[in-house]
Amino acid sequence: EKAGFDHFMLKEIYEQPKAYRDTMMGRISDDGRSVELTEIGMTADEIRAIRKIHIVACGTAMHAGLVGKTVLESLARIPVETDVASEYRYRSPIITPDTLVIVVSQSGETADTLAALREAKRCGARVLAITNVVGSSVSREADDVIITQAGPEIAVASTKAYTSQLIAFYLLGLFLAETLGTKDSAFIAEVVTAMHQLPEQVESILDNAPVLKQVAENLSKHNNLFFIGRGVDFAVAQEGSLKLKEISYIHSEAYAAGELKHGTLALIEEGIPVISLITQEDLYEKTLSNIKEVKARGAHVLGVVNEGFEGEVAKSVDELFAIPKTLPLLSPALSVVPLQLIAYYASLARGNDVDKPRNLAKSVTVE
Ligand code: M6R
Repeated sequence: EKAGFDHFMLKEIYEQPKAYRDTMMGRISDDGRSVELTEIGMTADEIRAIRKIHIVACGTAMHAGLVGKTVLESLARIPVETDVASEYRYRSPIITPDTLVIVVSQSGETADTLAALREAKRCGARVLAITNVVGSSVSREADDVIITQAGPEIAVASTKAYTSQLIAFYLLGLFLAETLGTKDSAFIAEVVTAMHQLPEQVESILDNAPVLKQVAENLSKHNNLFFIGRGVDFAVAQEGSLKLKEISYIHSEAYAAGELKHGTLALIEEGIPVISLITQEDLYEKTLSNIKEVKARGAHVLGVVNEGFEGEVAKSVDELFAIPKTLPLLSPALSVVPLQLIAYYASLARGNDVDKPRNLAKSVTVE
């Protein structure tokens, strides 16, 4: 059932190109200029009445939500807040009938996420679920459901579910933008064209897995490391850090690159690995200056960078991994893949049970 792969996690990482295609399938018009989410029952008037969005989820699904916030705010221009589900209800959030609450859950059974959904409904908000499991509790109780077509995810560490959730957010963002008129059809067509290229681009990253295996084997000898990035790169950094912790048991922290000098820089010492994401053109100079800060203190830096920027970045980092060029908003769907592979190979190098890490369950059905 692992289809020739040593672990479910690796199989699921390699299934991502298919998961992207399947999640997009049937949801984009033939001319590629419009997104059709027929599963969303909201009328155009109801969509226009949305004043704010809350995205609520746990773990990796929350990290998809962090990217989702940027996607929805930039495409639909609706303010978005994100909360981890175990915190949401207890901060007495301001949930009004003009709030759209989006819950994200691979399994659709996570107790805290389900409780957040119920609280949102109790307050009169409309709830949209992004889930991978048809018939799950979340899918049954939400008002609208976008099913990610990732297929069953067995490994405890979520990979293809996360990236499919990103695809769902892109589709939703474009759908809302079209309805609200915040983006024109030429722009939508441009994003759709770039989305169609993602599966092949992921394949080309997977072709370079041996390079990442080597990186991971070196990292696996360390007990502490950092992930840094700005904007959506910071959101991906958080996911990369969680993935690594979860299965390799190596301690890591994800930091907004500009925050380092407000405290964490004190932890940087000779030889400490820093993985830096540098995919956002407009933030690129800023992140480079943060890389120089850690380099000056002896860090060993791996830059995950867009093709075409290697020349500039090469001077400032110790190692480079290039990802194919895409639109800035779409880059998380590519940049997370090397981080998944690094986590996988680091776990393997440490002799851990990759698919069933200690202390963790695939689906957390207790609060
Ligand atoms: O099934 P869900 O998406 O609701 O699960 C949420 C988290 O428990 C899950 O993403 C967890 O963080 C993963 N093990 C991370 O790889």
